[in-house]
Amino acid sequence: MIIAIDGPAAAGKGTIAERLAAHYRLPYLDTGLLYRAIGKVMAEQGLDPDDAVGAGRVAAALDLTHLADPQLRGREAGELASRVAVHKPVRDALLKFQRDFAAQPEGAVLDGRDIGTTICPQADVKIFVTASPEVRARRRTDELNAKGRAVDYERILVEIRERDARDSGRTAAPLRKAADAHLLDTSDKAIETAFRAAVDIVERARAERA
Ligand code: C5P
Repeated sequence: MIIAIDGPAAAGKGTIAERLAAHYRLPYLDTGLLYRAIGKVMAEQGLDPDDAVGAGRVAAALDLTHLADPQLRGREAGELASRVAVHKPVRDALLKFQRDFAAQPEGAVLDGRDIGTTICPQADVKIFVTASPEVRARRRTDELNAKGRAVDYERILVEIRERDARDSGRTAAPLRKAADAHLLDTSDKAIETAFRAAVDIVERARAERA
């Protein structure tokens, strides 16, 4: 079974995807880490993340299995990721790795922005996880503050809106809900409730296919 989870930043899709993978004992790929890794390498090498050809070259040469670096999960890496992710050569270089991951015999859970639309259009279940920008900014602010990082809610809200605009506005595989994806709005849901709703969606989809 292939489960495709998409949605904007900080909507809860990573947590939901990880928990679904554990629940169904499926391998899990956080595809955002691929773009984050490319952005980080470019910054380290002093390359311009807005250069499509250079970014494509880095993407093609990168060892995509080394994604454990905790720095990749930071805000700066996220911003760089969304800049390199607009380039078609980057997306093309990452396509095969993601499709191969999804093609494992037991299936897989992948989360990102274009899994249901581009990477796995034939996924068994597609879930588009979203929440209002204000709720996402509040969650992100609380999360960072809890880690001892003093951040301002208004600043985070601006960053979230900018990231949404860049991810949805690009020409190459923009952030979109696939026509056959189930919408899961987590704005007024605690994570446990959101996870249960995701399991219900998967179970309904499986029953329909059986
Ligand atoms: O999900 P995460 O916040 O880690 O993603 C970082 C950035 O990588 C996103 O804002 C987006 O620009 C890009 N991305 C993408 N396609 C994916 C996953 C992530 O364009 N499948």
